[in-house]
Amino acid sequence: MNFTLRTMTQQDLRAVAEIEAGVFTDWYRIYRREPEPLSERTIEALRYAISLDPDANLVAVADDGAMVGFILARTWGRVGWFGTFGVPTQLQGLGIGTALVNHTVDYLEQKADVIGLETMPESGANIGLYTKLGFVATYPTHIIELPLIREAERFKSARVEDALVWEALGSSGRRRALCEIREIGDSILSGLDYSGEVEAIHSHGFGRTLLSRGEGDRLNGFAILRSTSIRAENTTGRAYIHALAVRPGADGPSVLDDLLQQVWASCVSLGLARVAAGLSGRYQSALPLFLERGFRVMRAGIRMVRLPVSEEVFQASDAIHLSRWAG
Ligand SMILES: CC(C)(COP(=O)(O)OP(=O)(O)OC[C@H]1O[C@@H](n2cnc3c(N)ncnc32)[C@H](O)[C@@H]1OP(=O)(O)O)[C@@H](O)C(=O)NCCC(=O)NCCS
Repeated sequence: MNFTLRTMTQQDLRAVAEIEAGVFTDWYRIYRREPEPLSERTIEALRYAISLDPDANLVAVADDGAMVGFILARTWGRVGWFGTFGVPTQLQGLGIGTALVNHTVDYLEQKADVIGLETMPESGANIGLYTKLGFVATYPTHIIELPLIREAERFKSARVEDALVWEALGSSGRRRALCEIREIGDSILSGLDYSGEVEAIHSHGFGRTLLSRGEGDRLNGFAILRSTSIRAENTTGRAYIHALAVRPGADGPSVLDDLLQQVWASCVSLGLARVAAGLSGRYQSALPLFLERGFRVMRAGIRMVRLPVSEEVFQASDAIHLSRWAG
C-alpha cells in the first residue's frame, strides 16, 4: 500500500482520536479480554499532547487521503520518547508502523540523547518491532495507584489551601521555579527537563504543578498533576501524577510526604477517587516508599531505549522520580 508521512495538524485530530480508540479497543479485547469499547481521547487532550513538540507528531496518509496511522512524540529537554502510536487493525503488518517509528527516531535524534518508549508486556509483536528498529529493554515501569478515600486517615492533615501551586506564583516566581525544576530533572537524568510540561499542563487546563520548598526557600521537589481526563467518557475518577521528582540530596521521604499531601488534597477537592503514576524500576529504593504511603502496584510496562545511549539509563539510582514514557 502506498502512503506518505507528514506532520500532524489540528485538522487531523478528529481522525487520530477515532483511529486510536479503534485500534486500542481491538488490542484490549484481544490481550486483556476487555469487551467494552475504549472511549475516544478528547480533541483538547490531543491538542495538549501535540503542543509540547508540534513537529514531532506524525500521521501516515494513503494515496486516497485516508489516515492510516499516527504517532505522538515528546521531548523533555534531551530526553525524547514516542507514544501513543497506532495503525488501524486491518492495515497492520504492512510497514506503516515501521515507517512512523523510523521517521520519529530521525526527528528525535536531532534533539535528544535518550530516545525511549513504553509498551505493554503482553505484546510480543511490539517488542519484536521495536527490537528490529534498534531498541532494547531497560527497566520495567511499575504502574502504581493511590486509592484516595481509603487512605484518608493517613492524609487527614492535608488541606488544599496549603498547597504550594506553581500556577499561583507571579511571573518571576514561575520563572525561578522552572529553572529549579530543570536543575532537579538534570540531576536525576542528564538533560531531563520538565519545564515544558509544567507550562503545557497549565495552559491547556489539564492540571497543576505542586512544589515543595525547604531551607532557604530552595525547591526540593515538584509534582505535575494531571487531574482532567484525556478521554471523553471517563468514570474512573483517576488523576495522574504526570511527573514527580525530589532533589537528590534532599530528605527524600519528607519531601515526598509534603508532595503527596498536596496531591491528595488537590485530587480530593476535585472529587477524584484515585491517583496513578509510573515508577521506573531504575529507582529501586523508591517503590517501597510509595507502598509505605498507601500506593498499590497495579501492573507493569516495559521501557525500551534506542541504542546507542548513555549507560546512565541502565544504572540503578536511589532518586525518587515518577514518570511514564507513554501518553
Ligand atoms: C504497533 C503498531 C503501530 C505497528 O504498526 P504496523 O504497521 O503493524 O507495523 P509494521 O507492519 O511496520 O511492522 C511490524 C513488524 O513487527 C514484526 N513482528 C510482528 N510480530 C512479531 C513478533 N511476535 N515477534 C517479532 N517481530 C514481530 C513484523 O515482523 C514486522 O517487522 P518486519 O516488517 O521487519 O517483518 C500496530 O501494530 C498497532 O497499532 N498496534 C496496536 C496498538 C499498539 O500496540 N500501539 C503501540 C503501543 S506501544
